[in-house]
This record gives sequence, C-alpha cells and structure tokens, in this order.
Amino acid sequence: MIIETERLILRPFLQTDAADVYEYLREPAVNCFAYMKLNSLDEAEKKKKKRIGETEYYFAIVLKESGKVIGEIEAYPETGEPHADENAVRDTFSPCWMLNINYQGKGYAFEAAYAFFDYLFQQKGARRIYAYTEDYNRSSQHLCEKLGMRREGVFLEFVSFVKNPDGTPRYENTVQYAILKREWDWQRRPNKVQI
Ligand SMILES: CC(C)(COP(=O)(O)OP(=O)(O)OC[C@H]1O[C@@H](n2cnc3c(N)ncnc32)[C@H](O)[C@@H]1OP(=O)(O)O)[C@@H](O)C(=O)NCCC(=O)NCCS
Repeated sequence: MIIETERLILRPFLQTDAADVYEYLREPAVNCFAYMKLNSLDEAEKKKKKRIGETEYYFAIVLKESGKVIGEIEAYPETGEPHADENAVRDTFSPCWMLNINYQGKGYAFEAAYAFFDYLFQQKGARRIYAYTEDYNRSSQHLCEKLGMRREGVFLEFVSFVKNPDGTPRYENTVQYAILKREWDWQRRPNKVQI
C-alpha cells in the first residue's frame, strides 16, 4: 500500500532505508522508544530486514522531493480491550509516530498522521483510534489535538520505560487520546455545522 499526500509518500520500508532510519533512531527522542535504539548501521540493516514485507500497517514517511525517509508511522488492528476473547473484532488501532528531529516543526507529522488515520478509518475498518503519550510530550499531544482526538484521561505512574540512577523503574504519567470513526467522519464533512 502506498499513501500519497501533498509533500509525502507513505510506503512500506525498503532495505535501502536503513541509513535514514539509523539517523533518527540512534538516539530515540522519547523514553517510550528507548527499546528501539539502534547502536549501529549494521543493527539498523538487520532490524529493517526483519520488517520488510510489512505492507499494510507500518509505513516509512518519505519526502517526495528528495526520497529521504524522515520518520515512520504504524498501528495494528487490536480488540481495544485486554480481556476480549480471541474472536473479538479487531477494529481499534493505536498509532506510533516519530520524525527525524531535523524534519520536525514543518507540519510533516500532521500531514502523515492525517492521511494514515483516514486510511485506517476508510480502508482498514477502524472504529476507534487511541494514542498514549507521556504527560511531558507536548508535541505529540498537540498532534493528537490537531487530528481532532479527545483527551480521555491521565494514568498516573502508568508505565516505566527507563530506570532511575538507583536502578528502580522510573514511572511515567500517560495521557490517553482517542477518536471514533463517526467523529472523524463528522469533522471531515464539508460545511460542518457546530452544534
Ligand atoms: C510528535 C512528533 C511526530 C510531532 O512532529 P511535529 O513536526 O512537531 O508535528 P507537526 O507536523 O504537527 O508540525 C508542527 C508544526 O509545524 C509547523 N509548520 C511549519 N510548516 C508547516 C506547513 N507547511 N504545514 C503545516 N505546519 C507547518 C506548524 O506551525 C506546526 O505547529 P502548529 O500545529 O502549532 O501550527 C515529533 O515531535 C516527534 O517525532 N517526536 C518524537 C517521537 C514521539 O514523541 N513520538 C510520540 C510518542 S507518544
């Protein structure tokens, strides 16, 4: 699957993208991506190789003008309820997004995420999209809000991605945002009337 926007192409990863990926995952910008840290170009190539062939839910964000991979976006179908039985409908998605720091602040994340959400809602049967973001991650929260997601709540000391200097888990406060398909359709309709 290839998704095209005004300035971007969202496409499956290629083996030749490893150097661009290494550029933004040498030092993951936020703790929740600490586990994705790449220690060498060689490691980037090996990890990319494992995920070549993912064509539906995992996309490289590519600049049309240069072909450079400036980030990635992904989300997979899930039931959205931890105790759901195995036959429950997988119509819920939770996106993970990141951009190379040199390409932030240019509207590319919004352009990519908007197109990706529309693809999930219109083509992949999404009913609900939710996002977790840490309470200090204002840029990610801002992106959620621009996409029309509702702030649903804050989970205090919800998760730990890294350790404190004394080796104990460092717990983080997590904000949850979400949007339903009917909300997405409503905000996209022409001449919408606020009631
Ligand atoms: C979260 C993240 C993807 C957001 O990226 P971003 O570049 O800040 O987001 P946007 O695409 O919305 O662009 C932001 C700004 O670009 C500016 N901009 C510049 N040129 C623009 C253009 N041509 N069109 C639109 N916006 C433009 C806008 O002013 C916009 O700010 P505003 O919404 O206040 O007006 C990015 O900060 C990131 O990768 N963070 C690290 C990873 C991370 O935290 N992931 C989420 C974990 S929960």
